[in-house]
Amino acid sequence: MAKPRTVFVCSSCGADAPRWSGQCPSCGEWNTLAPFAEARVRGTGQAARGGRLEAIGRLAALPEARWNTGFAEFDRVLGGGLVPGSVTLIGGEPGIGKSTLLLQCAASLAAGRGVLYATGEESVRQVAERARRLGVDAGSLNLVAETAVERIVELAAEAGAAVLVIDSIQTMTVAAVESSPGAVTQLRESTASLVRHAKASGTAVLLIGHVTREGVIAGPRVLEHMVDTVLYFESDSGSRFRVIRAVKNRFGAVNEIGVFAMEEKGLREVRNPSAIFLSRGTEAVPGSAVTVAREGTRQMLIEVQGLVDASPLANPRRIAVGFEPNRLALLLAVLHRHAGIALHGEDVFVNVVGGVRLAETAADLAVVAALVSSLKATPLAQDLVVFGELGLTGEIRPVPYGEERLREAAKHGFRRAVVPRANAPRQPPAGLAVAAVASISEALAALG
Ligand code: TYD
Ligand code: MG
Repeated sequence: MAKPRTVFVCSSCGADAPRWSGQCPSCGEWNTLAPFAEARVRGTGQAARGGRLEAIGRLAALPEARWNTGFAEFDRVLGGGLVPGSVTLIGGEPGIGKSTLLLQCAASLAAGRGVLYATGEESVRQVAERARRLGVDAGSLNLVAETAVERIVELAAEAGAAVLVIDSIQTMTVAAVESSPGAVTQLRESTASLVRHAKASGTAVLLIGHVTREGVIAGPRVLEHMVDTVLYFESDSGSRFRVIRAVKNRFGAVNEIGVFAMEEKGLREVRNPSAIFLSRGTEAVPGSAVTVAREGTRQMLIEVQGLVDASPLANPRRIAVGFEPNRLALLLAVLHRHAGIALHGEDVFVNVVGGVRLAETAADLAVVAALVSSLKATPLAQDLVVFGELGLTGEIRPVPYGEERLREAAKHGFRRAVVPRANAPRQPPAGLAVAAVASISEALAALG
């Protein structure tokens, strides 16, 4: 180990700099660099030391091992189950259910292999009590209340743990670093040490991480670079639904989501969640349109609301929640030039219901439909879905997975769909009348 030296570590991104400056050279934040006299822990690289040559073709031919977590929804977010030797970081606000989820998973994983649940937040009794309340069969699950990473790694090896849960990474420390738990250097070195253990031993490590008010994992972004998979556990405030979302995954698709409901006995997975964000009144109202969005590999029915109102301001407002504001400006320009609908004097608001973010251009047509419906004070039909991308020349462009979207809409009782011409199926799903449109004016006519 090299002798201690002083470095300056950014509390925002975790990067270190040899000397102090007012602005972090790495992430550009101001006044975030603080001095640390640290005994540098060497070898934070992820691969084990003493490497030898391997033919990738031979390795690639080996069957991929995946362990089921007991929740199909969690497995799908992981990309098909937990990968041995992987490190997964699960972030979420306090009280959202991270410990609950991982305790349920740990108990289920322990049925087939050694599992160690290390808690730095609660006592062993508290965790055992929760396991009892959850009614999980945690008999073979090993539990320890410990915050020293070296000791946990030792215990994991002793117990022959193939899965190691760390609750939470913010409470962990390594002896080589002097700063207190939760400090950037501790987080970084604790994580590095656990990553090394995972890679060297093939243990799947699950790290719980708290998030800050801004919604990022407390401490450095650098944690996200060090691990294989980053998941966020989120919920719409007050809702019992929980969504787990992959934002980085070396073993699966990003933006994949899994849906759970928090209940008396812990988390229950919601197997068919496509319409959970769709809770509309029974009466049709102006300014509401339903679209079929794609989240990861599944279709979701999402309501988009629009409000157009005469503005008292010289520069009327354009506000979008859950939708890209620049995209909204573009849609308004197309609406003006190609459909003759001018909203220069109006405030325009767009809201995607349920705290969902619509990042797909497939939502364009729903936004336009909601706004025009609000402007004309005419509701769209309750049994109508729309999707399609709007081009700058006023054309309606096709979107991926048109048929899947239509099937999902039909499954939930929608009777009419307005979609891009190129997405119109030869044989629409039973009970669904599909209007295929090629331009914004055709679309507005079809919406009625
Ligand atoms: P927890 O897993 O402790 O959250 P985190 O580890 O993310 O901080 O979850 C705590 C919340 O979950 C708490 O507000 C109560 C609720 N809960 C239930 O509704 N049902 C249950 O069976 C359990 C264990 C918790
Ligand atoms: Mg917890």
